[in-house]
Amino acid sequence: MGEPSMSEEKKITLSVIKADIGSLAGHHIAHPDTLAAASEVLAEAKKKGVIIDFYVTHVGDDIQLIMTHRKGVDSPEIHGLAWEAFKKAADVAKELGLYAAGQDLLSEAFSGNVRGLGPGVAEMEFVERPSEPVIIFMADKTEPGAFNLPLYRIFADPFNTAGLVIDPRMHSGFTFEIYDVMEGKAVKLNAPEELYDILALIGTPSRYVIKRVFRREDNLIAAVVSTERLNLIAGKYVGKDDPVMIVRAQHGLPAVGEVLEPFSFPHLVAGWMRGSHHGPLMPVPQRYAKCTRFDGPPRVIALGFQIKNGRLVGPADLFDDPAFDETRRLAQQIADYMRRHGPFMPHRLGPEEMEYTTLPQVLEKLKNRFYKAEEYKVKIRHSEMLTGEVHD
Ligand code: F6R
Ligand code: MG
Ligand code: MG
Repeated sequence: MGEPSMSEEKKITLSVIKADIGSLAGHHIAHPDTLAAASEVLAEAKKKGVIIDFYVTHVGDDIQLIMTHRKGVDSPEIHGLAWEAFKKAADVAKELGLYAAGQDLLSEAFSGNVRGLGPGVAEMEFVERPSEPVIIFMADKTEPGAFNLPLYRIFADPFNTAGLVIDPRMHSGFTFEIYDVMEGKAVKLNAPEELYDILALIGTPSRYVIKRVFRREDNLIAAVVSTERLNLIAGKYVGKDDPVMIVRAQHGLPAVGEVLEPFSFPHLVAGWMRGSHHGPLMPVPQRYAKCTRFDGPPRVIALGFQIKNGRLVGPADLFDDPAFDETRRLAQQIADYMRRHGPFMPHRLGPEEMEYTTLPQVLEKLKNRFYKAEEYKVKIRHSEMLTGEVHD
């Protein structure tokens, strides 16, 4: 009694916490000195035994802290550590005059959890398997819903994941936990029975975001995404919410190749320039994890690790492969095609999404310039439909 059970003892937490604390050449790339400042904080914590292991990296202007520990998800100690690392990195960013220094640290004070303070968080606690391959996806210039399509294909589409048909441990399917990020609600739906319901929601990636995926057979956690939407948290435009995702692979879960496969299609995601445009999600190796053309196009990297007793072995830079060259080429063509629309939809996001940018400030100025169009009568005005109030 009182002793932790064998499985409790072996439980490990993998935390990926990210923030944009300022970058070099506009919103382009994290400066190496900021990465070093964050690494120093984590190295000290590792020495003290607060965390078991860590890896600090970046995609574009976002810094990612990848940490293993035994303190569970939402640990104030781990979140506090991440906050301290970002603060130290932001201090360096300010010193160097980097662009938008401190951008994602919305509050001056840390209050026990980084959720709601700006950084994005993907964490999972699990019992380490004898061999534990995980893939950490990190994207820049896009939003958490960008992972909806790939996650659906990985865990619900047998045309992507052969294991759903062939491997008996996957045959009963997966549960998708989906957040309504606009209303702060969540729902769990099961694949394959509820595929159409799942799609009815996640086809609106700006609002319904897959948070976690579980294997139904034993409720084993298979994937988790950072779902923080900065604009909704801050109540004003503060950039897009460049997301991270952890996916466990192999041995009764989708194989690494099945997890990577959906990214061979550079699907359109929201983000890119000013967080206001649709563009193709381009899978790139770490060395190309920086956004240039029109502040993009949106990019994603995939780092593969093995976790052994909490130790992060790796990474393998998984998109550093000519097998994704054609995807990148197609993404360039899509980028050209979309760019030719200039400020027109569907390149520019629709009005609901633009509400969270700086466009409303521009529209506000035009408000008083409108007059009644005498020859154009509407039965019910849009504003009346929204408010239910009829006016003249
Ligand atoms: C998108 C992004 C950039 C900026 C753009 C304008 O997530 O970070 O595309 O929105 O460079 O930046 P500001 O307004 O800082 O000049
Ligand atoms: Mg930035
Ligand atoms: Mg970014």
